[in-house]
Amino acid sequence: MPYQASATRYDSMSYRRTGRSGLRLPAISLGLWYNFGGIDPLENGRAMLRRAFDLGITHFDLANNYGPPPGSAEENFGRIFSQDFRPYRDELIISSKAGYYMWPGPYGEWGSRKYLVASIDQSLRRMGLDYVDIFYSHRPDPHTPLEETMAALDFIVRSGRALYVGISTYSPEQTRQAAAILRQLGTPCLIHQPRYNMFDRWIEDGLLAALAEEGIGCISFSPLDQGILTDKYLHAVPADSRAAKLDNQFHWGDKVTPERVAQVHRLNDIAQARGQSLAQMAIAWVLRHPGMSSALIGASKVGQIEEAVAALANLAFSEVELAQIDDIL
Ligand SMILES: NC(=O)c1ccc[n+]([C@@H]2O[C@H](COP(=O)([O-])OP(=O)(O)OC[C@H]3O[C@@H](n4cnc5c(N)ncnc54)[C@H](OP(=O)(O)O)[C@@H]3O)[C@@H](O)[C@H]2O)c1
Repeated sequence: MPYQASATRYDSMSYRRTGRSGLRLPAISLGLWYNFGGIDPLENGRAMLRRAFDLGITHFDLANNYGPPPGSAEENFGRIFSQDFRPYRDELIISSKAGYYMWPGPYGEWGSRKYLVASIDQSLRRMGLDYVDIFYSHRPDPHTPLEETMAALDFIVRSGRALYVGISTYSPEQTRQAAAILRQLGTPCLIHQPRYNMFDRWIEDGLLAALAEEGIGCISFSPLDQGILTDKYLHAVPADSRAAKLDNQFHWGDKVTPERVAQVHRLNDIAQARGQSLAQMAIAWVLRHPGMSSALIGASKVGQIEEAVAALANLAFSEVELAQIDDIL
């Protein structure tokens, strides 16, 4: 069946301004890190992308290395894009990144101009796109001058390969330096993509303030801590969960101690008192910052996307609730 996007797709999603830019992002964005790769059923990925767009999720986030195997999420996205989403290209914000290991030799990771430009050309080919909307430096490179990495981002925009640029996992100080260089080059830094959730609050320690001052947006990845901030692991590790499927990368035993599970139980009680699932409360909690442009979720099932979008019905927290959550954390 050819895909026809829902006529009501813009009725309930809210869109937030990204820093001081002209771009608004959906409060919830969908990332393709897992569940869209070569090892995953293509039709499940297609169903999730269709449902997300029908619910107003206009932003899909990718990177060169998403899969597994690396590159396959972009290939699969390209396949689905060409079959389903090409007529909607101007309604979509598609991002990609380079920074982590992608190919052997000295030019296949980190932050050199050589790597970034080669990588975006590969990403565009895999996705069958003329340009991406946002291209990120995926991580800071301690051995490449920041000027070189930022100049490469500027070049990527000027050469038409991307409309905007962003940075991911840069410290507050690196962020200020990157913003200054990009401003001087005439390509402002649109957005920062940090990890942020109830169990990882590092951005509250200087990064959010830096972003507000610099006029840079913020899109937080892993708002559910990869699923730990949901009710799925309260009693066991389900066989179809990320923790079970990716045991060697997830490090369940290291990350999810009995103390952590006890915290999740208490957070779950607060969520229930709010009339929300824990996943929904975790998303609302990330979005409570006025400077938060979007919560960047992952999903393995259509129902998880629907549950996430339904979180938007209750984003308000009382002082008491916030204090209770702080107390647990
Ligand atoms: N910039 C970076 O360095 C970086 C790093 C990591 C991620 N990211 C981006 O952030 C995106 C999201 O990351 P993430 O996948 O870790 O986000 P997340 O939203 O914290 O975790 C998503 C996972 O949680 C589980 N889940 C989601 N909704 C659920 C629900 N309602 N009930 C139970 N379980 C639920 C699913 O895993 P199951 O398989 O267990 O169902 C899902 O795949 C990535 O796709 C990527 O685009 C960026």
